[in-house]
Amino acid sequence: RERTFIAVKPDGVHRHIIGDIIKRFEQKGFKLVAMKFTQADDALLQKHYSALSKKPFFPDLIKYMSSGPVCAMVWEGLNVVKTGRTMLGATNPMDSAPGTIRGDFCVQVGRNICHGSDSVESANTEVALWFKPAELVNWDPVAKPWVYEDDF
Ligand code: GTP
Ligand code: MG
Repeated sequence: RERTFIAVKPDGVHRHIIGDIIKRFEQKGFKLVAMKFTQADDALLQKHYSALSKKPFFPDLIKYMSSGPVCAMVWEGLNVVKTGRTMLGATNPMDSAPGTIRGDFCVQVGRNICHGSDSVESANTEVALWFKPAELVNWDPVAKPWVYEDDF
């Protein structure tokens, strides 16, 4: 039951791209497990991006991510962490392929509209950081046997 943490960043929210991002994950066949529209505070964001705390762009990154609401989501599916990253595209939109979310919707790395966990381990950490266990919904999409040939 692999899960990943996907977030639409404040620029994606202001630019009305939430729906397009959700649409792509839904159409792919992944299952939405949790979602909240929230204003993240600095403490949460500093934990979320703790691996980058020494980077020169870290203060700007925290400012950017706390500058408006984010749409935080948990998606589940086969290989969803890696496939989710592929769907988002390269970190820097100058390198993101057309057809990816960043490749299609943004221009600069400091305004790259979405976040996706970079490993199963960070996905688990990020899901636990952004959501309480009770906020993760257990449900069986009726399309499951049409998405997976075996019992996944
Ligand atoms: P996330 O999904 O947001 O974690 O992006 P990522 O995993 O593709 O990249 P990384 O974790 O290395 O960086 C996190 C975020 O910091 C990026 O998505 C960018 O928004 C921002 N960032 C990364 N590198 C730079 C940079 O060189 N300059 C600026 N201004 N921002 C950067
Ligand atoms: Mg990252």
